[in-house]
Amino acid sequence: MKLCMIGTGYVGLVSGVCFSDVGNIVYCVDKDKKKIDSLNNGIVPIYEPGLEEILKRNRKAKRLFFTSDLNEAVKKSDIVFICVGTPTKKKSNSADLKHVFTVTKQLKKNISKYKIIITKSTVPVTTGDKIEQILRNLKKKKLIDVVSNPEFLREGEAIRDFIYPDRVVIGTDSNKANKILKSLYLPIIKKSSRYFKTSRRGAEMIKYASNAFLATKISYINELANLCEKIGVNIQDISIGMGLDQRIGDRFLRAGPAYGGSCFPKDTRALIDVADKYKTDLSIIKSVIKSNNQRKITLTKRIDKILNNRLKNKNITFLGVTFKPNTDDMREASSIPMINYLNKKGSKIRYYDPSGRKMEFDKLKNVKFYSSISSACIKSDLIIIHTEWNAFKLLDFKKLVKKKNFKVFDMRNIYSRDKMRDLKIDYTSIGR
Ligand code: UDX
Repeated sequence: MKLCMIGTGYVGLVSGVCFSDVGNIVYCVDKDKKKIDSLNNGIVPIYEPGLEEILKRNRKAKRLFFTSDLNEAVKKSDIVFICVGTPTKKKSNSADLKHVFTVTKQLKKNISKYKIIITKSTVPVTTGDKIEQILRNLKKKKLIDVVSNPEFLREGEAIRDFIYPDRVVIGTDSNKANKILKSLYLPIIKKSSRYFKTSRRGAEMIKYASNAFLATKISYINELANLCEKIGVNIQDISIGMGLDQRIGDRFLRAGPAYGGSCFPKDTRALIDVADKYKTDLSIIKSVIKSNNQRKITLTKRIDKILNNRLKNKNITFLGVTFKPNTDDMREASSIPMINYLNKKGSKIRYYDPSGRKMEFDKLKNVKFYSSISSACIKSDLIIIHTEWNAFKLLDFKKLVKKKNFKVFDMRNIYSRDKMRDLKIDYTSIGR
């Protein structure tokens, strides 16, 4: 089939490249000409392991095209995916849909034969209705069906999550659209995954409900970790013991810093916003948001405590600053408030992250990026493992730091407490 992906961010680019890899002709559209130029030169603007190779392979096979000409791309396509950003509006909880509606209005004048218009971006429930309303003339002429097909891609694992999804969710009441989409996804639906059709609003809701639930699982285990520290229980045992119950499952039960990223924070807020509009109190999700924000403060205070509230001029090293490994994404990373706080307190902060320097810290005078683990750790008073990159999993701290009384704060429980005790390293972790 011929597909048009509007928006070449994490969702549009990964989906477009993977759709082309199973044989579709895909036009990826973005208004950012610089981005399109770099993509046409085979340069991938996002850090997604494995993406570059698949992109190059399909460009070479003439199945994948990058353009800023939305009109042309839409005309050539059978299915149009809206994959533009839907960030949280400033000073509010609601999702900003301006890009979605701008694109929708552009579609109005470019459709003269039947096309399926799909929202793949995460959009609040009823957004599909609003899009259909804008395109009502085309709908009346049966030239379009507006469908919800949310993505469930994790950054850093997006290709795997696309090719081996647990489920493909399609929201539509059009049998015609459903039939076409079933054949589009046929190469991807394996024995272990399901093609699930529901109403359009149902599909929109499934996305928010899923992300909010995963965020709830994380906040739940993070709060239990606080209790475990007080009663001398190892939170990792609790995660394993709970996770063996098929009804709970062991994933997303790893205690750590506050969750971050471009999805959980945004989607939990947007779900609360929709519920408020429908005068429904989602008290659990409200408390998850509150709990996660509180966690940022709790772990920052823990740093204070580890250094006996003497932060000024202390050398603190952050190993990893991104919100999770295998991504360069800093959106709502819990390292940002921590490093800003420590910078204000006069600590001298060094950080190393495999995905490179971060502009979020460029303006902070006491914060410096180092291009290697060793240069970031030498003579450090406190090493904080913030992100569980593989590069941090087998470190010889004594060799790295080259000084006697340094400390380690392992926010991801990578190391064994017993081993650190045997090495006589002052070691703090989470929930243990
Ligand atoms: C998430 C959803 O997983 C994905 O399905 C959706 O499409 C987009 O949002 P993503 O935000 O890329 O994906 O990352 P994810 O792997 O879910 O991690 C989100 C945050 O939770 C990270 O800060 C991570 O460190 C944290 N996390 C995750 C934990 O603290 N503990 C865990 O056990 C798992």
